Amino acid sequence: MNKFVMIIFGASGDLTKRKLMPALYTLYNDRRLPDGFSILGIGRTDYTDAHYQEYILDELRKYVSSKEQVEGPMNEFCSHLRYLTLDPAEAEGYGALDKRLQELTGEQNPDNLLYYLATPPSLYGVIPLHLKAAHLNRPHTRIIVEKPFGYDLESALELNKIYASVFEEHQIYRIDHFLGKETAQNILAFRFANGIFEPLWNRNYIDYVEITAVENLGIEQRGGFYEGAGALRDMVQNHLIQLVALTAMEPPAVFNADNFRNEVVKVYESLAPLTEEDLNEHIVRGQYTASGIKPGYREEKNVALDSRTETYIAMKIGINNWRWSGVPFYIRTGKQMPTKVTEIVVHFRETPHQMFRCEGGHCPRANKLILRLQPNEGIVLKFGMKVPGPGFDVKQVMMDFSYDKLGGLPTGDAYARLIEDCIQGDPTLFTRSDAVEASWRFFNPVLKYWKECPDAPLYGYPVGTWGPLESEAMMREHGAEWTNPC
Ligand code: BG6
Repeated sequence: MNKFVMIIFGASGDLTKRKLMPALYTLYNDRRLPDGFSILGIGRTDYTDAHYQEYILDELRKYVSSKEQVEGPMNEFCSHLRYLTLDPAEAEGYGALDKRLQELTGEQNPDNLLYYLATPPSLYGVIPLHLKAAHLNRPHTRIIVEKPFGYDLESALELNKIYASVFEEHQIYRIDHFLGKETAQNILAFRFANGIFEPLWNRNYIDYVEITAVENLGIEQRGGFYEGAGALRDMVQNHLIQLVALTAMEPPAVFNADNFRNEVVKVYESLAPLTEEDLNEHIVRGQYTASGIKPGYREEKNVALDSRTETYIAMKIGINNWRWSGVPFYIRTGKQMPTKVTEIVVHFRETPHQMFRCEGGHCPRANKLILRLQPNEGIVLKFGMKVPGPGFDVKQVMMDFSYDKLGGLPTGDAYARLIEDCIQGDPTLFTRSDAVEASWRFFNPVLKYWKECPDAPLYGYPVGTWGPLESEAMMREHGAEWTNPC
């Protein structure tokens, strides 16, 4: 087997130090990286190999948390790191990349290569073309591209065209790290490995679904990126819609990459096109404002003083198919919320008639199923039980499963799982070109509407709150309210 080299474009960036290197170190620790591998960092910052190794070693000490890993062979891992100073936007440097790869592998035409694009999205279309011009798009190479893949439908179509002119689809891995989360994958196991939920999993028994992925952090040091993205491109068009797909998709007959990804695309293609009414009333966008000593979004570094970029979005989505017609999916995401949590709440229909008294007078008549992706990963079913003692009062109780009971989740996170899948050539958990296009096709009218109607509302919400009150109003239309996890 030829020597394996992973080439990271954006090697001194935030994603590389926070996510990629800790993930690669996890794989190294578990002996899950190919023998004799190298990792070649590429960026404009001037490092020697030794400096880069020191820099990553320092960062690993900050971002690796498990005690076992902190005490593991970090130095040894870092000895596999190399660095090449190169501006990825300029074609000239790619000859030097070729030469460096030959040196590293001792091969004339190394092709056991994995490129990882952890750069600003503006380079996603440039790098593959430069790789092609330097004949570095060899048959066994693979490329992982970060999200958002495209800025809107047109740019995503254009990017797909560029990628298709450089690589075969099976070489292209569009990453969405939410799919690498154990708990996201478990939605499929929960739905399709258990018979009892399937008969209930449709419009006849489910009233509505909520998907929440919120964070109690701001944009950190990423003002430059975030200004051009906003919550819709950063979270909704990829992570949240993937969760909708996992919740709503049909079971594939055989679980493999093609069948799974076909079902995802079918969900995207069934999303009810957004009407003018939806654009006006069923989408709420917000931006966090200062509270106490915490700055508002417009006070963050690299953010315009009059920025209209959304840091919060809540939407009502419909799916036009037999299983889901008439069942709203309410999704929301936001920065600077009271807590960090990702969960899906499935609200079943109410009992047709309530014959018992309820403890405290308030009697929820509907069962709720909560799939908690993070933190406190687990699944909770809420249902009514008789309060012990005289009379027939009913109260709601919880039946819960926590991953802790299985000995916790594996160490290393979504990125480790996905990088390993890519090295092994398994594209199941990566987004296919048709899925990325179908998803943009659905969201494009929102971007267009915001662009063409500068007066479309953007509501402020103070740091540490659950977002604009208008998003509550959207839920009230359905006689519902958001489930705010504590
Ligand atoms: C990233 C977004 O894709 O996902 C970030 O760019 C966001 O803005 C992050 O903070 C959330 O991921 P996780 O795994 O921490 O929930």
